[in-house]
Amino acid sequence: MTAGAIHSAEDARRIARRRLPWMVFDYIDGAAGTETGAARNRAALDALTLRPRVLQDVSQRSMASSVFGQATERPFGIAPMGMCNLSGPGADLMLARLAARYKIPHGVSTVASTPLEQIIETAQGHAWFQLYFSGDGAGTFKLVERAKSAGYQTLVLTVDVPEVGRRPRELRHGFKMPFKIGPRQFVDFALHPRWSIGSLLAGKPQMANFLMDGYEFDRTESRAKADWSTLARLRDAWPGNLVVKGVLDSEDALRLKQEGVDAIQVSSHGARQLESAPAPIACLAAIREAVGPDYPLFFDSGLRSGEDALKALVHGADFVFFGRILQFAIAAAGEAGLERLWDVLSDEMSIAMAQTGMRDLSGLRGA
Ligand SMILES: Cc1cc2nc3c(=O)[nH]c(=O)nc-3n(C[C@H](O)[C@H](O)[C@H](O)COP(=O)(O)O)c2cc1C
Repeated sequence: MTAGAIHSAEDARRIARRRLPWMVFDYIDGAAGTETGAARNRAALDALTLRPRVLQDVSQRSMASSVFGQATERPFGIAPMGMCNLSGPGADLMLARLAARYKIPHGVSTVASTPLEQIIETAQGHAWFQLYFSGDGAGTFKLVERAKSAGYQTLVLTVDVPEVGRRPRELRHGFKMPFKIGPRQFVDFALHPRWSIGSLLAGKPQMANFLMDGYEFDRTESRAKADWSTLARLRDAWPGNLVVKGVLDSEDALRLKQEGVDAIQVSSHGARQLESAPAPIACLAAIREAVGPDYPLFFDSGLRSGEDALKALVHGADFVFFGRILQFAIAAAGEAGLERLWDVLSDEMSIAMAQTGMRDLSGLRGA
């Protein structure tokens, strides 16, 4: 199967579903509970329309944007995702190379499968470190220092996982980190030999940031102790840009702005946490209203095309992020698949811009 078979994010997902062990596909694809949160966001995105405009000479178009004063070649980046190397060996570094090429931010998860130092080096600095507060915070603040020494300038604190949401599809397969291969997983891997040979022989994917001496990490350890004083402590400890990710409420957004946070990422974690959360796309306008027109606002969750991304930009986001579809592209056709999907997303956005009379992304809100 070549990357050329990918004409949409759904193509990438369909091919990935065939190639990945069920356990891995369902870990990446799954959402909280009975997955109505994911459906609600999809329905809300589908219900939004863009305004077609005609006769605007849109022959020259640019998708250039900027974030924290740095020029980017696209208004979209890579959302932080744990254990990306499960989608294919070397996935983290494929994403990092993509970030370097387009000068876009690559979110590096606390639970990434490649050490944070190696990712920022490959991304040529275009990497943001995503932080989970966990346990009593001792390990968390060690990671902050480590990210600072590695040269990270932007820290993303994810706040929508005080406890890890239940995702039944993943639980049914016995998905666990560190990875345990019992009889059920053995059958699953045997039925997906291409993945198993590539991924398991390359070395079992691990949570690479915790392979530190004296550091034990438990993925299920409670993150529930974090509160506003934790944020204040982090603000003091981090001189760079501080983003808070996973915000859906305008009162929270306003308080975060007042507490000195540099940007907010409106997100439902791709519908992986609170099933009953409102559709993030439907929260964007109210949050924009609360924080004012000039405050940096980012968006992710449920974006499946360049046209979806444009909708989020039009409805108040300054910059947006794609998540699981990038992993599906890697699972479908490796780095060529990732590049192909990126081109598809870029094309989709560029064409939608032409059809809505946009030559560039300046002043697009309310278009
Ligand atoms: C497999 C997977 C792992 C994820 N891991 C993390 C993580 O470690 N930290 C984090 O802040 N968000 C994580 N996310 C959420 C993403 O950053 C992002 O919010 C979400 O994927 C966006 O939705 P989308 O996948 O529908 O585009 C993860 C998402 C997926 C699909």
